[in-house]
Amino acid sequence: MSQIDWSHVKNLVLLSGAGISAASGIATFRGSGGLWENHRIEDVATPEAFNQDPQLVWRFYSMRRLQAGHAKPNEAHKALDAFAEKFNGEITLITQNVDGLHRRAQKKSHLDAICMHGTLEKSRCTHCHEIYLDDMAWLPSEGMPRQTGLLRTDEQANSDALSNYKIKLSDGLPLSPCCQELLRPHIVWFGEEPLFMPKIFASLERCDLFASIGTSGVVYPAAAFLEIAKSHGAETVLFNVESLPQQEHVDLYIQGPAEETVPQQFSL
Ligand SMILES: NC(=O)c1ccc[n+]([C@@H]2O[C@H](COP(=O)([O-])OP(=O)(O)OC[C@H]3O[C@@H](n4cnc5c(N)ncnc54)[C@H](O)[C@@H]3O)[C@@H](O)[C@H]2O)c1
Ligand SMILES: [Zn+2]
Repeated sequence: MSQIDWSHVKNLVLLSGAGISAASGIATFRGSGGLWENHRIEDVATPEAFNQDPQLVWRFYSMRRLQAGHAKPNEAHKALDAFAEKFNGEITLITQNVDGLHRRAQKKSHLDAICMHGTLEKSRCTHCHEIYLDDMAWLPSEGMPRQTGLLRTDEQANSDALSNYKIKLSDGLPLSPCCQELLRPHIVWFGEEPLFMPKIFASLERCDLFASIGTSGVVYPAAAFLEIAKSHGAETVLFNVESLPQQEHVDLYIQGPAEETVPQQFSL
């Protein structure tokens, strides 16, 4: 298998997807059967679904928070953190994942992931859009704990922790401290704009190596990042466990599980 030559790379952009968290036990999206309590994921991950049935949507995200809270970063997340500490250039890490595992893998570096689809670790006010750190399972199943233990709030000074407030509930769902309106998961749902797009596009324009790790490349706009980076002269690398149509169009295709291939490739 070829090895990435890091010697000439000054500006690296990484895009991670659900595949990087598969070894942590978090089901990938398309592989999961697409059903959740007889609802398609598309039907619980839309603003319309939340307006119609916020209990159902909060129950879905409460379960995802509990699942992420029990998962641990794997060798791929850890290898990126270790690599970032040593790498002598700029790294932009964009993730489509909402599980918080890149953040929790951060031990050595200051590699903050840009969470373009939001995060399970935050909620926001449906009225004024104020964002709070919040990893509670607001509607857990019977016998399940409420707290997920995902957060280290002292290290995230950029938003307030919801646990600092006395929260009022409405039918078991949390109301925002700011407006006393429903809080919603800080997740980008189908039909909503991904976050941080200007920053992401700017990074793609100046990148000289673009690597996509564990993403099926079917969810736009992330699916277009590789071509955009390429059009600005970047070399492209694709990491996936399966064969993908895009592999014909990249400089290097690295097939295998990310938890093995990422530590092999991201070493200096
Ligand atoms: N962990 C999470 O936070 C999580 C989990 C599921 C879905 N999602 C959301 O679902 C959407 C789906 O897009 P996506 O492309 O990220 O996910 P996807 O499920 O569409 O694709 C996952 C890709 O990872 C590959 N893969 C599976 N196991 C792998 C491994 N061990 N190593 C390398 N590759 C592996 C699969 O072949 C597939 O191509 C995103 O918007 C994301 O926000 C997030
Ligand atoms: Zn508010």
